Amino acid sequence: MPEARRRAFVCGHPIAHSRSPKIHTHWLARYRLSGSYEAVDVAPGDFEAFVSSLASGAFVGGNVTLPHKEAAFRTVDRRDDAAERIGAVNTLWLEDGLLHGSNTDAYGFAANLDEHAPGWAHAGTAVVLGAGGAARAVLYALKARGFRDIRIVNRTLERARLLAREFGPAFSAHQLAATGELLGDAALLVNTTSVGMHGEAELPLGLGHLPDNALVTDIVYVPLETPLLAAARRRGLKTVDGLGMLLHQAAPGFERWFGVKPEVTPELRALVAADI
Ligand code: ATR
Repeated sequence: MPEARRRAFVCGHPIAHSRSPKIHTHWLARYRLSGSYEAVDVAPGDFEAFVSSLASGAFVGGNVTLPHKEAAFRTVDRRDDAAERIGAVNTLWLEDGLLHGSNTDAYGFAANLDEHAPGWAHAGTAVVLGAGGAARAVLYALKARGFRDIRIVNRTLERARLLAREFGPAFSAHQLAATGELLGDAALLVNTTSVGMHGEAELPLGLGHLPDNALVTDIVYVPLETPLLAAARRRGLKTVDGLGMLLHQAAPGFERWFGVKPEVTPELRALVAADI
């Protein structure tokens, strides 16, 4: 008997603009798999009911996006270490009747830099702008890759302090300021704030203080070249945009649901970049 057609989902609210269906549908076609990946609009009050419905086995698993990542963290039966430390779940799957949750954003962040800036993780000092949910995934990845001095820089100092305390002795908290003194010996600068999204104003930051061999990356990918990346490029610094993080974070879920480890190719990147 042929195996049942596997179905996966992405749930969020709103969901119409999610790029995940494009990524997974591309991979399903590329690997000639008879599965599906569907966008499901789940309103904030309906997430628990949606999760309960998963027990029926209609889906093998799926992705969770805004505003449900924290609710998914609370709801799953099992969490992996990344989900536990990041405090949010973006990937679900059913295994032995239990709902498992992972967070693949840290993996996606690191894999994007592995692809576009090989050797990036040999560096010791990183500066991370922002202290929200997105920052947590980046901090987890930097710790896992052995960074020894990770400076969390935030507009609201107290949020940075809380994160630094939680993540451990390699982390320190700093006030966002234009002075740039924190940047003088940084090998990596990461923006995790929403500033720059849709071409908004730049962060107050003394980019000129970064060493000439520093790498600058932004997890925002709309636009592909954020004001921060544009400024870094004008200064002659190496930059990596955030689109690759989106593409790479999708891979572990696809592999789990459909049994094939998918490749992030230039073709996939061009496909998704076409409507940014
Ligand atoms: P996310 O889960 O996407 O990280 P968040 O928890 O709302 O979202 O965090 C947004 C981050 O962007 C925070 O670090 C925020 O700084 P505050 O903690 O001071 O709010 C930062 N941020 C948002 N708008 C900003 C701005 N105009 N200037 C500087 N930082 C900003």
